[in-house]
Amino acid sequence: MMMMKAWRVHELGEPADVLRFEDVDIPTPGEGQVLVQVRGVGLNFPDLLMIAGKYQERPPLPFIPGVELTGEVVDTGQRVIGVPTGISGAFAEYAVMDRAAAWQVPDGMPDDQAAALYVTYQTGHVGLHRRARLQPGEVVLVHAGAGGVGSAAIQLAKVAGATVIATAGGPEKIAVCRELGADHAVDYLAEDFVGPVKEITGGRGADVIYDPVGGDIFDSSRKCIAFEGRIVVVGFTSGRIAEAPTNHALVKNYSVVGLHWGLYRSYQPSLIAAVHEDLSRLYAKGAIKPLVSQTLPLDQAPEALAALSRRGTIGKVVLTP
Ligand SMILES: NC(=O)c1ccc[n+]([C@@H]2O[C@H](COP(=O)([O-])OP(=O)(O)OC[C@H]3O[C@@H](n4cnc5c(N)ncnc54)[C@H](OP(=O)(O)O)[C@@H]3O)[C@@H](O)[C@H]2O)c1
Repeated sequence: MMMMKAWRVHELGEPADVLRFEDVDIPTPGEGQVLVQVRGVGLNFPDLLMIAGKYQERPPLPFIPGVELTGEVVDTGQRVIGVPTGISGAFAEYAVMDRAAAWQVPDGMPDDQAAALYVTYQTGHVGLHRRARLQPGEVVLVHAGAGGVGSAAIQLAKVAGATVIATAGGPEKIAVCRELGADHAVDYLAEDFVGPVKEITGGRGADVIYDPVGGDIFDSSRKCIAFEGRIVVVGFTSGRIAEAPTNHALVKNYSVVGLHWGLYRSYQPSLIAAVHEDLSRLYAKGAIKPLVSQTLPLDQAPEALAALSRRGTIGKVVLTP
């Protein structure tokens, strides 16, 4: 049996405490699956949640974490991106993917960017278009705009013809949001964003609020959502799941829209395919480009995950086996 290096989680907890870099068997693809040599792993906040046992999916222990990769199909050499299947995650030299969900890398796209095109851009596309029904000319407020999910959402909202206001923690991240195309950027660690959003929108508020942070940020978002606005609940990096009082939604005439992109993979794979095609087209014409701030060797996964959990990353961090 051929062996590979992989990070495995034997018990749930902090990455530095529970991840072990081990020699394990190269996984065997089953019916309808392909073996992929991993070329890049996109880090995602859900990796932290899964390793801690706080995610909606809980793979049986021990498991290899990592939900996003780019690599080469061993049999054909085809370059693909997507989500690995089963307990054989992306933090490894090889992974298994469903053949039907191994999407072609856009022509000419380097590995580090390809490793960052899938989860966050699919989430942004489905969140803004499918769930929030974004219209050209609307105002989109993107929270944590310098993060992985946020940076993709800024680019996608701009491409869709929206005016974008971004929030982020600290001056460096604010500058990143502007470079990504945000028309306005607010340091929400230095000031409350509600006043600036109202000022920018002439008192109306934002039509779409894309919120991967939750907690206090969700609570304040309710104060600057426009008439018929949509607050998209993307995640809870703040660590608190906020309440959404239904009387407030009624009185102000807005919607709170849940987004679980991963469910479309089983409920409506045709949407994933259509979004991948659109993202490939947008990449080819230079309209989107993943912001990869760091490319690190796979053996530095615990350090990279620690930086992600303490708000110490910008855009995407990619690991290379
Ligand atoms: N709904 C879906 O289908 C879906 C899909 C993918 C990801 N997600 C969710 O989207 C969120 C973002 O994921 P990501 O991978 O792109 O991460 P990320 O945004 O790159 O990193 C997390 C960011 O959240 C902000 N943040 C605010 N309070 C924080 C806190 N107390 N601790 C840590 N971070 C805090 C930080 O930005 P600032 O310093 O600028 O505040 C930080 O950089 C996660 O909640 C994830 O689960 C949801």
